[in-house]
Amino acid sequence: MKPINITKLTGKKGTERQVWATAYDAWMASIIDGLVDVILVGDSLGMMVQGQDTTLPVTLDEMIYHTKMVARGCKSSFLVADMPFMSYQVSTSVALESAGRLLKEGGAKAVKLEGGFSQVETIKALTQVGIPVVGHLGMTPQSVHAFGGFGKQAKTENGQKHLLEEALAITEAGCFAVVLENVPHDIARDITQAIGAVTIGIGAGGDTDGQVQVFHDLFGLDPNFSPKHAVVYSQMGTEMQEITKRFAQDVREKKLVSN
Ligand code: KIV
Repeated sequence: MKPINITKLTGKKGTERQVWATAYDAWMASIIDGLVDVILVGDSLGMMVQGQDTTLPVTLDEMIYHTKMVARGCKSSFLVADMPFMSYQVSTSVALESAGRLLKEGGAKAVKLEGGFSQVETIKALTQVGIPVVGHLGMTPQSVHAFGGFGKQAKTENGQKHLLEEALAITEAGCFAVVLENVPHDIARDITQAIGAVTIGIGAGGDTDGQVQVFHDLFGLDPNFSPKHAVVYSQMGTEMQEITKRFAQDVREKKLVSN
């Protein structure tokens, strides 16, 4: 299959819905490669892989390490890597260096960063040197402490007006796509209609240009945790525990002989 590129992705706006999913290593990437349009190395790996409570502790070196692994399993889908907390907020030159490393060392084809008006200059600087940028608005997990939790954002009329203005501003600055996380469905639909960039929703209803899901949520890998926005297709985590129990029993009862 011919690898999907940015022209194909942006060309789908208004005609074909797109599918994004996260992956954090080569094996995960090879499972979903070619079946989804975009593989995102999300900084959600802090929570899904590292066992952290938030995405804040994830470092740029860790993102590069995971992006490199994912790149080895990603042959057809378009590879986007998250810029972790404080790898771009400090200054545009820090952002340029961080994004450059994600492309040069990690093998990403684009980067994703969180924020609206505050990120306009950074988005301009990155896109001017040829680094494609995905924006991320609404419930932006790197601001969890400012929000006081992971709950829905833009619930008021003013909040929704502000969100729309931010979406317009970051599109104007150069974002080719914008993730809308955990926002009311109506405002996600209005933003989708108002901006030229592709909108990718998670917890944002069904009227965005596409949807993103976290790998572990998609497959039900964590038997103890499933966020409200997760689409539950399977309970593989529970199944893995059942298999482990059977394995343990077979070993303990001397039923299993491994040659
Ligand atoms: O880090 C991540 O996985 C994300 C998606 C939830 C959009 O940002």
